[in-house]
Amino acid sequence: MLIRICMGSACYVLGASKIAKRLQELIDEKALADSIDFKASFCMGPCSEGVVVEVDGQRHCRLSPENVEEFFQREILNQIEKRSDR
Ligand code: FES
Repeated sequence: MLIRICMGSACYVLGASKIAKRLQELIDEKALADSIDFKASFCMGPCSEGVVVEVDGQRHCRLSPENVEEFFQREILNQIEKRSDR
């Protein structure tokens, strides 16, 4: 799984670095570092909808330090579980 987080200036101001730090912690806590490639990105375009994160090319907007855990559960853990069920 490839996860990219926007570190452009608009997203940065909205807390992208905090979100990136928390996502990295969650990836480490769940021992998923081997399954997830986690990268920072330049501006992805929809700056007014930041913070923007892409999961395997699918864009998710309006992440915040408050909803990052719920996002991780829904869009990352659930997806990984679905794939391992196949
Ligand atoms: S700064 Fe994140 S989309 Fe532009």
